[in-house]
Amino acid sequence: MKVLIVGGGGREHALAVKIAQSQHVDKIYCAPGNGGIAQIAECVDIKATDIDGMVAFAKAKGIGLTVVAPDDPLVLGMVDAFRQNGLRVFGPDKNAAIIEGSKAFSKDLMKKYGIPTAEYEVFGNAESAIAYLDGKTCPIVIKADGLALGKGVIIAQSYDEAVAAINSIMEDKVFGSAGSRVVIEQFLTGQEVSVLAFTDGKTLVPMVSAQDHKKVYNGDQGPNTGGMGAFSPSRIYDEKMEKYCMEKIFLPTMHAMNSEGRSFKGILYFGLIVTEDGIYVIEYNCRFGDPEAQAVLPRLKSDIIEIFEAVIDERLGGLDIVWDDGAAACVVMASGGYPGKYDTGFAISGINDAEQDDKVTVFHAGTAAKDGNIFTSGGRVLGVTATGTSLDEALKTAYNAVQKIKFEKAHYRTDIGVK
Ligand code: AMP
Ligand code: GLY
Repeated sequence: MKVLIVGGGGREHALAVKIAQSQHVDKIYCAPGNGGIAQIAECVDIKATDIDGMVAFAKAKGIGLTVVAPDDPLVLGMVDAFRQNGLRVFGPDKNAAIIEGSKAFSKDLMKKYGIPTAEYEVFGNAESAIAYLDGKTCPIVIKADGLALGKGVIIAQSYDEAVAAINSIMEDKVFGSAGSRVVIEQFLTGQEVSVLAFTDGKTLVPMVSAQDHKKVYNGDQGPNTGGMGAFSPSRIYDEKMEKYCMEKIFLPTMHAMNSEGRSFKGILYFGLIVTEDGIYVIEYNCRFGDPEAQAVLPRLKSDIIEIFEAVIDERLGGLDIVWDDGAAACVVMASGGYPGKYDTGFAISGINDAEQDDKVTVFHAGTAAKDGNIFTSGGRVLGVTATGTSLDEALKTAYNAVQKIKFEKAHYRTDIGVK
């Protein structure tokens, strides 16, 4: 079968590697792909949000299965368009992807169905949002309702910061129409855990747990990024927590979406925070996390295409999904300056050397291939990933591999997986 992967970052590279291991796949296309994905798939120059272009390509090439990985095409309805054209596709439809596409929707869903989440209110104009701040304590969390490239959440440390955040989202429209509403939310303290799950709307199967690191510098300092690293399993998420989450969060979310007529079929991502008072949902995503996928997928032993097919055909309940019981860690190497301004086009060396260790895979995020060489082309450049029998072993192997890779102005965190 021919498979098309939509997207072009580290997550899509991790997916491509896993899909290439499937016994059902002869050929992989990836649109738009990147310099690393090009080594195992044919990259096609179609933007991930170009729904018509993607459908036309899948039809022309006789694609047997398309996997839509990023949030924006899912929220825009790419899956619906594929279905309408009689094409087989993995991912939630537009109706269900709203669980990530609108934070107001997801908060209201959790409130309606008693799923634990921080207290909040939704506002449609800056004046009422600012009035709500009166008498509230800081920090307080201000969130743009829609998709904002992972930058739509501001943790305001003071009243003035909160007002500035509301004004920049709602008046200055820094996130465009994603900011026509804001959610203002109680600040929660605790350790975060990401649990991704396969679900076909009838059955939900959680994957092994993970944690990502969003801040750019060691010790969780500096601005947020798309993710500077991830590891799996989480150091704190145990069987008791998993049982609690299954009963109070995961299955209730699946059932809630069914009750709303928005049955979710795909990857449901639960961003959880473990506080002193219990576990709460911070956010839902309608897809694999990036860079969580880079730490979780290397641990999947089962054929991923068989899982995707079972989700599409609503027979996930009949499947046995097998995981490696070790660990994996992914260290992101980024361009100097990221997440602010950075330069690209620097040659990268040492990737082959790093991959001499068969526990190491270097997932490409922002790279381009030219004349057989690999160059930086984005903010997050590589996700240097290793597996191991323990988390400490995986981390050590990943950091050894990082030492072998060089490009000008590279920077990375040295404390991934530490806490
Ligand atoms: P989100 O885009 O919803 O994932 O939020 C990005 C990050 O902001 C989360 O991973 C948390 O670290 C932080 N965050 C979001 N909501 C809260 C909250 N209510 N309390 C504390 N931190 C939060
Ligand atoms: N790692 C968080 C996300 O993918 O949104």
